[in-house]
Amino acid sequence: MEKKRAQWGSKIGFILAAAGSAVGLGNIWKFPGRAYEGGGGCFLLLYLIMVVFLGAPMMLTELSVGRASQTNIVGAFRQLGHRRWSWVGWIGVIGAFVITCYYSHVGGWVMRYAFGYATEGERIYADSLGYFYNMLGCHADGTTSFPWVAILFAALFMAINAVVIIRGVESGIERFNKIGMPALFLLLLVLLVRAVTLEGSRPGIMYMISLDWGKLSFDTVLAALGQAFYSLSIGMAIMITYGSYLPRTENIARNTALVCTMDTLVAILAGFIVVPAVFATLGEQQIGKGGGFAFVSLAGVFRQMPGGTFFGVVFYLLLLFAALTSCMSLVEGIVAFLTEHFSLPRKGTTLAVCGSMFLIGCLYTCSQAAFPLKGIWFDAANGTTSPAFCDAMEFLTDRIMIPVCALGCCVFVGWVWKPGSAIAEVEQNGVRFGLARVYAVLIKYVAPVAILTILAMNFATGMTLS
Ligand code: PFF
Repeated sequence: MEKKRAQWGSKIGFILAAAGSAVGLGNIWKFPGRAYEGGGGCFLLLYLIMVVFLGAPMMLTELSVGRASQTNIVGAFRQLGHRRWSWVGWIGVIGAFVITCYYSHVGGWVMRYAFGYATEGERIYADSLGYFYNMLGCHADGTTSFPWVAILFAALFMAINAVVIIRGVESGIERFNKIGMPALFLLLLVLLVRAVTLEGSRPGIMYMISLDWGKLSFDTVLAALGQAFYSLSIGMAIMITYGSYLPRTENIARNTALVCTMDTLVAILAGFIVVPAVFATLGEQQIGKGGGFAFVSLAGVFRQMPGGTFFGVVFYLLLLFAALTSCMSLVEGIVAFLTEHFSLPRKGTTLAVCGSMFLIGCLYTCSQAAFPLKGIWFDAANGTTSPAFCDAMEFLTDRIMIPVCALGCCVFVGWVWKPGSAIAEVEQNGVRFGLARVYAVLIKYVAPVAILTILAMNFATGMTLS
């Protein structure tokens, strides 16, 4: 007898889980820095255009492919088209695997900081750079040691993911997101009120709504598009997996609009928290992106802010929920594929997948502080960090695999499966898809051209990562 396929238990369960996948480190960690660099208000506007005209149609495409095929990433392309299209799914699976390797470790660092602010905020303030490197096994006297604190927290982070995934779609992922996402919104609101009421935050707020077109460049446009795809979890075929658990009664178009709105709202709110808070405390020029900013510079913000230690805990808890629910979706995409494609048991597969991603991710954590990988990825010329390995992973996923998978997906739907089939999938159960014609044009012509341009530019600019 064929096993019944898992399904979301409720409409809100799916929406929160999909929003949970989308809202992640990309929204809270990457977006504010990108928005600042892109000129505040103009970047926000550009970002909104990208989400509406490219991100949302892509999400709708992935969800309808998933629901129509009722199967995993690789199987979906095979089933709706031909086996020669399964490479798109394979890129999704491999990309999701690579992202999770480092995403889970950064998640572990975030968890360490949530504990750190709760128990020893003073130590973080006293030497924020030293605290960060200490966690990674690099000490002030120049010696290095195994970064067991970071590794331990990454293991804990991965273990939470594994437990949730083993419990399954409805009682694991859906239930976790039903608690995690409302908590995330609450934490976000607390931080927003704190940030905009800080003395000196006004110039930051003004910057975020100013339209300084002088900062606009082709690079900014590309950054906005790349950020939109990453943030919406597009191009890893994760939404195909989540769509495959959707009942036929659900309105995909409305769900897409809701998930995109939530994700964009969180990114913009994060921008309105981080940018004004940094303006008010450290000064404008300190705004940045990446680990150094999220872990080191922000310590200065919390140190100077009234009630800063409390808000530090709130901030890292927020980041932790965001990272957990996104990481979960990546793991689910891989586990769903392996269990269905190779008829493997869910529990063993989840443990093997999470275990191997954790182990490979250890290279990421270890490469930061040079122990025990000294000389392999350690960049002596640049000091203690090791951009080579981390950048290579990010470059491979964000700049190559996501666009290639997204391109494969929209060419497949635009020219092989045909937009009409996706529209028919949306219009099940008497749903009317008013924007069907616009959607067809976007997915057939606009999206492939835009993604191809991104890819070409990425190859042309090489590894100039931010
Ligand atoms: N959307 C997530 C973020 O903004 O952090 C990251 C992500 C999750 C990317 C799942 C891709 C994915 F399939």
